[in-house]
Amino acid sequence: MSTKTIQMTPALSTYLQTVGLREAAILTQLRAKTAQMTGAQMQISPEQGQFMAMLVTLLGAKKTIDIGTFTGYSALVVALALPDDGNVITCDINKQATDIAKRFWCNAHMENKIDLRLAPAVETLQQLMAAGEANTFDFIFIDADKNNYAAYYELSLQLVRPGGLIAIDNVLWNGRVADPAINDEATLSIRALNAKIHDDERVMMSLVPIGDGLTLVRKNLTDHVDHRLAKEGNKLDIKEEQEMADEDLRKDYF
Ligand SMILES: C[S@@+](CC[C@H](N)C(=O)[O-])C[C@H]1O[C@@H](n2cnc3c(N)ncnc32)[C@H](O)[C@@H]1O
Repeated sequence: MSTKTIQMTPALSTYLQTVGLREAAILTQLRAKTAQMTGAQMQISPEQGQFMAMLVTLLGAKKTIDIGTFTGYSALVVALALPDDGNVITCDINKQATDIAKRFWCNAHMENKIDLRLAPAVETLQQLMAAGEANTFDFIFIDADKNNYAAYYELSLQLVRPGGLIAIDNVLWNGRVADPAINDEATLSIRALNAKIHDDERVMMSLVPIGDGLTLVRKNLTDHVDHRLAKEGNKLDIKEEQEMADEDLRKDYF
């Protein structure tokens, strides 16, 4: 009954967390620990974490990447939602923060599901490409340094499978993206990526105003279709293409 997204007041935010959040105790403890640290505001909100857990469950995800570990909340909330044979590769360069993350993953008995790569995330993603992991990941969460967002997006688009999901954090950047007077490097980078994704025909997209803004990007199924078109050498109309894409998805993922 509304044509606009509701404004979130502090009272409404508290209410949302009261009736809308079912957070595991270990995640609440991790938030309490992180709140004492410098940079605590970098952690995702618990309702966003819960939303991401819902998404990976709906996807039936097993292989996931978390770009930007910090104290490990996003990696842990996803790991807890994955099946026993699921896995999170998480990328960061901060040893001190990720040492805390590792303690909480162990306490949650999730250490075997979470693989920390302590290196610049672009290098880790390039290594995964070189290891032949393109088109194999079900879910990728982008939440590291904003200046590299364009590179994270393009590498993620290669690594995620057709029909898989990329979630990009901080796309509203505390409102700065909508203020033309603000033109620092991080704001320009996020603004440019938002515009690019809006026009990107390789994906389906939705910008969700949860937390600091979370863009969901679903990779089209056409990689496989393109491959088959090249092999079969004929031109299909859109309906036939969609039917082939659906058939590929059924065959490969169910
Ligand atoms: C916003 S925080 C991640 C928050 C985390 N997702 C959570 O749920 O708590 C961003 C993280 O990206 C890391 N980072 C910054 N530059 C990086 C780079 N080039 N490669 C990998 N990680 C980087 C920072 O050290 C920081 O821990």
